[in-house]
Amino acid sequence: MLFDLRPKEKREELYGREKELEELHRLTKSEWVVVLGRRMTGKTSLLKVFLNEVGGLYVNLAGVRSMRGFVEELMKHARKLNIEITMGPLTISWTRLAEDVFSKLEGRIIGLDEVQELPRNYMLKLLKKVWDTYDVKLVFTGSLVGVITGLLEPTPQSPLYGRQPAKIELKPFPSDVGVEFLEAGFREFDMRPPRLEVEEAVESLGGYPGWLAYYGNMRCVRGLGHREALEQVYSEGKQVLTQELKKFLAGRKNPERYVRLLKLLPAKWSELETALGINAKVLSDMLDSLERAMIIEKKGSTYTIPDPIMRRLVLEL
Ligand SMILES: Nc1ncnc2c1ncn2[C@@H]1O[C@H](COP(=O)(O)OP(=O)(O)OP(=O)(O)O)[C@@H](O)[C@H]1O
Ligand SMILES: [Mg+2]
Repeated sequence: MLFDLRPKEKREELYGREKELEELHRLTKSEWVVVLGRRMTGKTSLLKVFLNEVGGLYVNLAGVRSMRGFVEELMKHARKLNIEITMGPLTISWTRLAEDVFSKLEGRIIGLDEVQELPRNYMLKLLKKVWDTYDVKLVFTGSLVGVITGLLEPTPQSPLYGRQPAKIELKPFPSDVGVEFLEAGFREFDMRPPRLEVEEAVESLGGYPGWLAYYGNMRCVRGLGHREALEQVYSEGKQVLTQELKKFLAGRKNPERYVRLLKLLPAKWSELETALGINAKVLSDMLDSLERAMIIEKKGSTYTIPDPIMRRLVLEL
């Protein structure tokens, strides 16, 4: 069911991602892969469908911040494949234990979902060892911070320098695909809401499969009307994206200035420079970090906030 709120697990339920799924199959024959994308673009769904097709192992690392936590999750999932790993009599390091687990998983594909909070340096060292020693294919998802940045943009000193994984970026659906997605989902419930409502939903939520599925679910499963469903998704989306924004701002020297900048968008460079009264280097660094965090995008010479939910919540800040 397209409007199911859990990540999809089967190809038939995964809408409009045939190309990305094939690419994942093709790339993982020889490479490690990072799946990138904003919230609710369907990263977990793509990963799970793929892993089910190749008999791979799915490991959810959301909220895991230590090597110990990583090893425990890995072992928990390995046990599901009847792979038993016991700790030796001497306490060895968590990194060594992780290596043991990987050695037992040779020949498999392992999906590590949401790796962004793991300790970067330990993980990169471990991954280098795994890369050099074991026949294990890895697929990662996470935001472009921590381990993911270490993998995709390694410094020459990084253990994985010269071994960058391939990258698949999940974009929101274009408007027409968003509309088709909703119509296909409604058909599963024998519903045919007016075209204008469907178009308005895509326009105000963007082509994010996650927000669209949530909207469809509110209408078909919860029985809400069009407006109520839109408001419900907005308030849920606002909470999720406010958290994302807070996490981003928490690491900045001058968070208020970022908020001021965001409120000015869409805008061109010169407009921002004038309105904020800051020097070019500072502005360029701010725009760069916002772009890397996938909060803004540059279209031609204009900087915009592509996600309509983020756009609206920024104005309410
Ligand atoms: N291609 C798709 N076809 C059908 N439903 C999808 C698709 N992609 C995502 N969904 C639905 O959208 C919701 C969010 O999907 P998922 O958890 O895979 O996204 P995500 O990018 O991992 O989100 P997050 O950023 O929160 O981790 C779920 O309800 C899922 O069923
Ligand atoms: Mg996810």
